[in-house]
Amino acid sequence: NQNIHILAIESSCDDTAAAVLCNGKILSNIVATQEVHKQYGGVVPELASRAHQQNIVPVIHQALAKANIDKKELSAIAFTRGPGLMGSLLVGTSFAKSLSMGLQIPLIEVNHMQAHILAHFIEEENFDKPEFPFLAMTISGGHTQIVKVNDYFNMEIIGQTTDDAVGEAFDKSAKIMGLPYPGGPLIDKYSKEGNPKAFPFPKPKVEGLDFSFSGFKTAVLYFIQRETKKDPDFVEKNLKDICASVQYTIIEILMDKLKKAVKQTGIKQVAIGGGVSANSGIRQAMKDAEKNLGWKSFIPKFEYTTDNAAMIGIAGYYKYLSGDFADYSVTAKSRYKF
Ligand code: KG4
Ligand code: ZN
Repeated sequence: NQNIHILAIESSCDDTAAAVLCNGKILSNIVATQEVHKQYGGVVPELASRAHQQNIVPVIHQALAKANIDKKELSAIAFTRGPGLMGSLLVGTSFAKSLSMGLQIPLIEVNHMQAHILAHFIEEENFDKPEFPFLAMTISGGHTQIVKVNDYFNMEIIGQTTDDAVGEAFDKSAKIMGLPYPGGPLIDKYSKEGNPKAFPFPKPKVEGLDFSFSGFKTAVLYFIQRETKKDPDFVEKNLKDICASVQYTIIEILMDKLKKAVKQTGIKQVAIGGGVSANSGIRQAMKDAEKNLGWKSFIPKFEYTTDNAAMIGIAGYYKYLSGDFADYSVTAKSRYKF
């Protein structure tokens, strides 16, 4: 049997996900998003682990059924080892180990942030893969990094946030406006009908290729507090313009650094990945850069932006090809640098 079938499991935060890949192509990609956190305005780690425990078996069954694959046809199990919430990671890690033992097939550990980047190698029809070396900006709820990708598993972080992640800047700004969690997608939605220049927000001054978002978040907070004192309905009346202005500033902060990274490295193949790469503004900015700055931009398919197991599967596939397997002493790592 020449076909390599990978079952991939992702449980690093609040999405329980499983996918089946055949030779790098996606046969199924199932995500169970945990709704329980909405009422708390953010992810509650203890509740996340419990929900993973409940979801993991049905999600894996669905992924196998949709792929029309029997467990016995699987070549290996790939799982997210980290970074992420410890209690969440433990569920996927333990489950993957047990399944690998039970089926007597190899176990493959995957770094979640590398997987967000390797999502660009998922086999699709009519698609270009980036060529090494390329730059990748990973933007999510937990991370903001610019990475020089030398090879599949040879990556260097050349810039990163010194405080909040960009996803937090979106979500916290949304929370200040009274929007539910996660607010990023809602800011994106309302921005489409707002004026991005309505309210100017300050951009931080940070050295080199690093980012900072805590000052931005505070500026949004003070602005809303000040305006709401004058007019209690300020947010309601100006929601679309505030969202558009917040999004515009965040994208400028991101793109300024990415342009600087391209200048510094001379690398013009540029990818984005992670939950915030679902944002329509950043996707447009990457297309504009392709047109105006001569970049080759790589924008992930929408379903591979936020947390998913397809990306864990493609990372697992490349590790499988190089025989890079984990042994059963492997443990989850909440902080996992590469
Ligand atoms: O990668 P991800 O699913 O989980 C982490 O690994 O953190 O990223 C989640 C983050 C959240 O902060 C969410 O608000 C943000 O991605 N996000 C967006 C959009 N879709 C998801 N932010 C802005 N615009 C969007 N369309
Ligand atoms: Zn992620």
